[in-house]
Amino acid sequence: MLKLTGLKKINISIFISGTGSNLKNLIIHSFKKNSKFKITLIITNNPKAKGLNFAKKFKIEKRIINYSNIKNAEKKILLELKKNKVNLICLAGFMKILSKNFIKNFKGKIINIHPSLLPKYKGLNTHQRAMNNREKYSGCTVHYVNSKLDSGKIILQKKVRILKNDTFNSLNKRVLKHEHIIYPKALKKVLSNL
Ligand code: GAR
Repeated sequence: MLKLTGLKKINISIFISGTGSNLKNLIIHSFKKNSKFKITLIITNNPKAKGLNFAKKFKIEKRIINYSNIKNAEKKILLELKKNKVNLICLAGFMKILSKNFIKNFKGKIINIHPSLLPKYKGLNTHQRAMNNREKYSGCTVHYVNSKLDSGKIILQKKVRILKNDTFNSLNKRVLKHEHIIYPKALKKVLSNL
């Protein structure tokens, strides 16, 4: 693979499926003076993803990928990543599981944010499950992506206290705020290790 040294900025692609608040936050960080990365491509499986508006707003290339056939979808994505010289992938609310083969192509170069204190609550509905189990804390984790769901090496994690009157929405909102703090920090850490 490519050697990621020198003064050149790292090209990042962000994969989304929905609102894109993490995407927006990372874009804003990429504009900071000493930023070591540039977001060059936004990928989504969802043509209605709200986050696509940020592509337009910040003039970033986007690709909407038809996921009716995963193999073809991933082939197309890999091609786009190559064309756009992407070095690193950040998953930010991307609700599709990447195949082993795809991950092999970007080994150690895909990171994800997950709304739980991994290894607890892999998969979906994390906050609701944590609340149902009367956990004291939920939280968020940035981790490397490997071939097992939400199981790669943890880069950063933040605990968030579950309050007595929390609903899914209130907890989700509070955790998202922390996601916006830890994702750029974790990315910085990853970039310094490339
Ligand atoms: C975030 O809470 C993120 O942790 C979660 O989706 C949300 C996306 O929000 N990711 C997952 O559940 C991945 N399994 P955003 O679109 O506003 O960034």
